[in-house]
Amino acid sequence: MLPYLANQRTPNALKREFELSTKKRARVRILATGGTIAGSADRADTAGSYTAATVSLSAILDTVPGLHALADVDARQVAAIDSKDADPEFWQELARHVQQALDAPDVDAVVVLHGTDTLTESAWFVELALAPSKTVVFSGAMRPATALSADGPMNVLQAVRVATDASSRGRGVLAVMNGAIHRARFLRKAHSSHVHAFTSGAAGLEGEVFDTVNWFRPPPASSVGQLRCDGLTGRDAQMGLPADVDTAIPGGATDVGAAAILDGDEIGYLLGTPLPRVDILVAYPGASTDVVAHLVRAGARGIVFAGTGHGTLSGPIQAALADARSSGLAVVRASKVDEGQVGWNVGCPDHALGFMTSGGLSPDKARVALMVRLAKEKAKEKAKEKGQARSGVRALLEDYRI
Ligand code: SIN
Repeated sequence: MLPYLANQRTPNALKREFELSTKKRARVRILATGGTIAGSADRADTAGSYTAATVSLSAILDTVPGLHALADVDARQVAAIDSKDADPEFWQELARHVQQALDAPDVDAVVVLHGTDTLTESAWFVELALAPSKTVVFSGAMRPATALSADGPMNVLQAVRVATDASSRGRGVLAVMNGAIHRARFLRKAHSSHVHAFTSGAAGLEGEVFDTVNWFRPPPASSVGQLRCDGLTGRDAQMGLPADVDTAIPGGATDVGAAAILDGDEIGYLLGTPLPRVDILVAYPGASTDVVAHLVRAGARGIVFAGTGHGTLSGPIQAALADARSSGLAVVRASKVDEGQVGWNVGCPDHALGFMTSGGLSPDKARVALMVRLAKEKAKEKAKEKGQARSGVRALLEDYRI
């Protein structure tokens, strides 16, 4: 470079510096939970044999140049697990941390770093439990932090870039991996080792991120519209008529998200009380029905059946699930096929049997949705009881003019 140009910046660089110095900086809370993004191995040339959840969040963030130019980062290590070991208590704990960040006036957006193996369930739980009003972005990595071409650092940078983008709100919980922006609702892990491991299937990506963020669609116009396609359904898929919801749907509402917004006490109950047990059974030729009776005895509150094709059930399985429903369990028909809808009363007399269907939810997401739905019903009941007890005490105090 010519000596007189050495310290000169281009007009574009000066403009960008000016913009950065005058822009209100976004404040992002990063919550780390472990996973491959925090994984390490002895050698850089192995991406498959490593131990997950061994590298600290601060060490990960040190490998992300430009992060602090993007946002004020408040980084917190909230767990250090391989996400295969996640369980409903872990979801609740994580959601409590996300809730704290949502409640904090000095936090604009949240990024959660998570193992990719069960990232979809955790992200979906956070969406259904909290209906976050601030942007929440999940990310992770397919290669451990020590690997050649580790994908974690770029994923972190891009997750923060998406989290701080003004148009990221109102799209539900998002996931950013390998430059793709997904909605938690449609996210599916589709490859066991590629860095491009996630897909949003036929629904498509929400956008892409490179050095800038490109949204492919505007945020949903109304949260009601969004919730309608998000839940288990007891709605007649052919007629579009509401079902006889009392028999078909535990809790009475037709869509799992319809009664989604909870107040602080109810969220406290949802996140602080053990979630109801819901199991997934998968269809295969010759599947035995014994296991259904076993789940009833074991205290399950619900069963999601990942059926064939359009969520279809063999005769014996249908009879066994009908018995389970009669004994009070919630039953959801889903499909083990990756794409497509399982419509209510389509191919199965769901109304007569009292079954719900998954709509377009995968069996694992239908399970999360059913657990949240059953827990929300309980949270609402408890809040009502508390309200009644409170007004009873108030009446007593008034009677005695206390
Ligand atoms: C995990 O899910 O914690 C390990 C695998 C990964 O993050 O890719």
